[in-house]
Amino acid sequence: DAMPIAGPKKVLLAAPRGYCAGVDRAVIAVEKALEHYGPPVYVRKQIVHNVHVVSSLEAKGAVFVEENEEVPEGALVVFSAHGVSPAVIASAADRGLRTIDATCPLVTKVHREAVRFAKDDFDILLIGHEGHEEVEGTAGEAPEHIQIVNGPHEVDDVKVRDPEKVIWLSQTTLSVDETMETVRLLKERFPTLQDPPSDDICYATTNRQVAIKNISPRADLVLVVGSANSSNSVRLVEVALEYGAKNSYRVDFANEVDESWFEGVATVGVTSGASVPEILVQDVLRLLADYGYADVEEIVTAEEDLLFSLPKELRATLKAAG
Ligand code: F3S
Repeated sequence: DAMPIAGPKKVLLAAPRGYCAGVDRAVIAVEKALEHYGPPVYVRKQIVHNVHVVSSLEAKGAVFVEENEEVPEGALVVFSAHGVSPAVIASAADRGLRTIDATCPLVTKVHREAVRFAKDDFDILLIGHEGHEEVEGTAGEAPEHIQIVNGPHEVDDVKVRDPEKVIWLSQTTLSVDETMETVRLLKERFPTLQDPPSDDICYATTNRQVAIKNISPRADLVLVVGSANSSNSVRLVEVALEYGAKNSYRVDFANEVDESWFEGVATVGVTSGASVPEILVQDVLRLLADYGYADVEEIVTAEEDLLFSLPKELRATLKAAG
């Protein structure tokens, strides 16, 4: 028998959720490049970490590659929203590739900080996930000066040349709370550790976490729409569980939702990562309605109106084309 549920069935829909300004810009950049130049348009790495976005662009003629070496000489390649190291830009130049850099401006900001503090000969502690493309790109700006700190558990392993000359920077899509814990532990070891000039965790990551923190204490189940390699989406599941959701799952698509998850569930929280098109959330809401969760209340914890202009290479081309 199904467990009795605790009240009327309802959905709390987080806002903000879904696309951030950097993802929106990167996806439009590939679409515009396809329209203007025609396929194939090569894209180094997934333009954003979302299965649906990547397969939709593939269907329109985008060709995703891992490295510049896979792109034919002289062809057009788009760099993903997560950013690239100077070595990648150099290898593209070596192959005579035409490039469109769709790096999110908020990632570029962190690159600039890395360059500046490396120049001043600081030891830079980059809090982030080893192997994530953004971290590889940022670390590549100053490999001699940067060490990656994967989280609180790695703080004890950090070694610096001069404890008085250390700064921390971070990946843009981390858990705010966990990062602050890492910083707290780092400051126990290095009391004069310098903070970044401005927050590296971006507004979109922060806002989506605030929104789900608000909903989670009231939710029996939180569904996060997003892909497995999407850092900010995976964090939303962790944050939901930390803030009181009884259960939380990440799904790429509505058809991954398992009926057994609804046992005993009255209130379902729903959100999506910064790389997720709204259409995928609407699919999940339709499915929830089929299960009797048709009453949807949107909980708005912030308004977002940031927009980035297209990558400069594309702006120039589109302008010249009239
Ligand atoms: Fe940029 Fe943050 Fe989105 S760094 S790509 S605005 S998640």
